[in-house]
Amino acid sequence: MTIYLPRDSAAKALGADEVAAALAREAETRGIELNLIRNGSRGMVWLEPLVEVERDGRRLAYGPVAPSDVPALLDGTLACHGTVEDIPFFARQTRLTFARCGLIDPLDLDAYRAHGGLVGLERAAGMTGAEIVEEVTESGLRGRGGAGFPAGIKWNTVLQAAGPRKYIVCNADEGDSGTFADRMIMEGDPFTLIEGMAIAGLGVGAEQGYVYLRSEYPDAIEVMNAAIRIAREAGVLGADVLGAGRAFDMEVRVGAGAYVCGEETSLLNSLEGKRGVVRAKPPLPAIEGLFGKPTVVNNVLTLATVPVIFEKGAAHYAGLGLGRSKGTMPIQIAGNVARGGLFETAFGMPLGELVHEVAGGTASGRPVKAVQVGGPLGAYMPPEKFDTPFAYEEFDGQGGLIGHAGVVVFDDTADMLALARFAMEFCAVESCGKCTPCRIGAVRGVETLDRIAEGDGAAVDLLADLCETMKDGSLCALGGFTPFPVMSALTHYPDDFAGQKEAAE
Ligand code: NAI
Ligand code: SF4
Repeated sequence: MTIYLPRDSAAKALGADEVAAALAREAETRGIELNLIRNGSRGMVWLEPLVEVERDGRRLAYGPVAPSDVPALLDGTLACHGTVEDIPFFARQTRLTFARCGLIDPLDLDAYRAHGGLVGLERAAGMTGAEIVEEVTESGLRGRGGAGFPAGIKWNTVLQAAGPRKYIVCNADEGDSGTFADRMIMEGDPFTLIEGMAIAGLGVGAEQGYVYLRSEYPDAIEVMNAAIRIAREAGVLGADVLGAGRAFDMEVRVGAGAYVCGEETSLLNSLEGKRGVVRAKPPLPAIEGLFGKPTVVNNVLTLATVPVIFEKGAAHYAGLGLGRSKGTMPIQIAGNVARGGLFETAFGMPLGELVHEVAGGTASGRPVKAVQVGGPLGAYMPPEKFDTPFAYEEFDGQGGLIGHAGVVVFDDTADMLALARFAMEFCAVESCGKCTPCRIGAVRGVETLDRIAEGDGAAVDLLADLCETMKDGSLCALGGFTPFPVMSALTHYPDDFAGQKEAAE
């Protein structure tokens, strides 16, 4: 009997290991030969632990499963969702980057190949570096870390840069609140990231790659390290990648847990063994990056999307999406929602459809008050903006950003002044301290918000002024983007900022 049960850390946090132990015990009692495959997560977190039982060639889904449900599960009497593909949340997705995640054992390279893995790398191995970069450019792939910079242009800068030594650095320091896509793909389909980094290496002429992985992700670190070893033994990595006569190898480096190390220059400093302080740009990392050498720094999702582009072709990828936002985005739905999880879809779905139809509205059943998109530096979007299509330029036009595509939902009990204060406090705590508008500004921001909370209405103008200074004068996105959540809260929810004053009067 073949049963799939995720080894993903969200599933484990919800009891997957206990269910695995109960399955082993019950199978032994019943004399059943159990083939338990620990797969990645299918991304439907509210159904975790999601167990799939293979019956008549179909994978029937059950969840959330508790250890006490195991006898009924084996009897076939537990309530079943049909197959995963029958579940509406899953059925309405377009899965490219996450196509294999949850389908296979993450460390089974044969299963990876059987589901389209390595087709892209094999194709890239027969292309010149310039042809590889051209394919990425034509796909329209943009940086999935947040800024949305075209990956092909970045790769081309590194390809054109002089020097025998270049690097591929994968930014896996996923720190945005409400985001988990990097972790999920590293735990659920690590070979796709390895394959993407190898294609990047062949493309720009880099022979060494690093995954800068946050220490808070021990499962991802373990899976990535194991996958790299397996890939090396199979000749996917090493001196002769897939026998094509070109070298690429990689390793995992673990960060020490600073949000600002997700900023690329700070990350490079940390990788070099220095304190994680932001460097001024220029020079761009593409010209002078790791150890002063030309370096591609891309987010996990950017690199993990490259294999499917080479497998299906740039035109296929570019054929999806909206305007300059090409392809698909793995959106992470979290916060106060009925159905939280990973939802990969072509760019363009209106925010309201995501919140109400996909996520099923709030878990509390109360009205939605605000949605923060793009992590702690993203703007709060009120329901009046819910017709905004999920895409880079469209969000920008509404004063927001999609960032790393984290969507955090709040109901009408949310205190927007408290959330604005949290943004300033977060910035004050995580600031690297290099520039004044952020280092001092964030502390002053907390104090100013406290004054507003105490009823000092005059402090509102001061807050707006401070936010302008932080936006214009900060060296990196941490100080420069903190005003977005603060000002959006103030603009869209003025009552939350005025109520305290009235109470004081
Ligand atoms: P940026 O706009 O300065 O740069 C974007 C990327 O393009 C960088 O890698 C930069 O080096 C590169 N680039 C720019 N011009 C180039 C050229 N001519 N040739 C080659 N490469 C070039 O943005 P930044 O500061 O790197 O990122 C800001 C974003 O990060 C924000 O939008 C925010 O959403 C996001 N962010 C993401 C987090 C996460 O956990 N994923 C955490 C915090 C912020
Ligand atoms: Fe450092 Fe903040 Fe300045 Fe960024 S904005 S360089 S985190 S002090």
